[in-house]
Amino acid sequence: AKNPLRVLVTGAAGQIGYAIVPMIARGVMLGPDQPVILHMLDIEPAAEALNGVKMELIDAAFPLLKGVVATTDAVEACKEVNIAVMVGGFPRKEGMERKDVMSKNVSIYKKQASALEQHAAPDCKVLVVANPANTNALILKEFAPSIPEKNITCLTRLDHNRALGQISERLNVHVSDVKNVIIWGNHSSTQYPDVNHAKVTTSSGEKPVRELVADDQWLNTEFITTVQQRGAAIIKARKLSSALSAASAACDHIRNWVLGTPKGTWVSMGVYSDGSYGIERGLIYSFPVTCEKGEWSIVQGLKIDEFSRAKMDATAKELIEEKALAYSCLG
Ligand code: NAI
Repeated sequence: AKNPLRVLVTGAAGQIGYAIVPMIARGVMLGPDQPVILHMLDIEPAAEALNGVKMELIDAAFPLLKGVVATTDAVEACKEVNIAVMVGGFPRKEGMERKDVMSKNVSIYKKQASALEQHAAPDCKVLVVANPANTNALILKEFAPSIPEKNITCLTRLDHNRALGQISERLNVHVSDVKNVIIWGNHSSTQYPDVNHAKVTTSSGEKPVRELVADDQWLNTEFITTVQQRGAAIIKARKLSSALSAASAACDHIRNWVLGTPKGTWVSMGVYSDGSYGIERGLIYSFPVTCEKGEWSIVQGLKIDEFSRAKMDATAKELIEEKALAYSCLG
């Protein structure tokens, strides 16, 4: 039998936390033959609720779950973790300036970077979910210099999955027959959902999404804005932000990263830019990636038209501004 892997979830008493811990304990994230030990971190005001989640995990009697650590101590939470899913953060509240939210989160991610650097397993893979996800991940990277930059990522898989979902609904095909959409850039409303390389498996082979949809007007406008604004639409409907889909996407992100992407298929991940596609180095930017043997690599050589170029640059520009804002918060 495999040795258990330790999986940290921060903000575990929150909405996404409540949705993701049973998925992890059931093998959705790391596979049905991989035992796990869950580490759950939250802050003091949520300590009792966190303990309630621990009680439920015990009550669920998950065969793969070999232990549960529930704590408000970041050092204890990070000890020897192999995977860290960073969901904890400070939400934007009414009347708060963007800078105030940034400032709160930058200080959280700076602190947690040190705890991870000092106490996590040396090859720990980190996924930042909490917003502003790309910039939180960048701060984490900057303040955990001994964690290799390839081990620090942020979640744009939810946006990727939303794009697959919209195409599947439009074409009335199963979502698993749609592949290779791309989310470029920031996990925000400036993200660019790109279908120029996306394909659908049909009874007569793989066909380009553009050819099957045959409506460039819809693809270039409504499709893009629907994906960009899906988070807001969920809040409007549920009066709460996406949680089950975010948790599921985080499991997809880690599963593909650790276990690989299927041949001929890529996924979107926020990763440290190496300058690919002319995107400034030193940003955490969402790219199309394939994964093999626990490592992601950016898909190279895709043709970028003028329409895409402008949208990819606009979302990069927003990330450059966020980075400057984050640094100004650090003083
Ligand atoms: P939530 O407010 O229900 O839960 C957040 C939890 O984090 C709370 O329990 C809170 O006590 C905890 N927390 C706050 N500061 C902490 C700290 N310093 N250390 C540990 N825990 C801390 O929020 P929800 O709905 O679970 O969302 C979590 C985050 O994920 C938000 O920032 C949200 O914007 C983001 N998000 C990102 C998505 C993505 O695709 N990247 C999708 C959906 C949400």
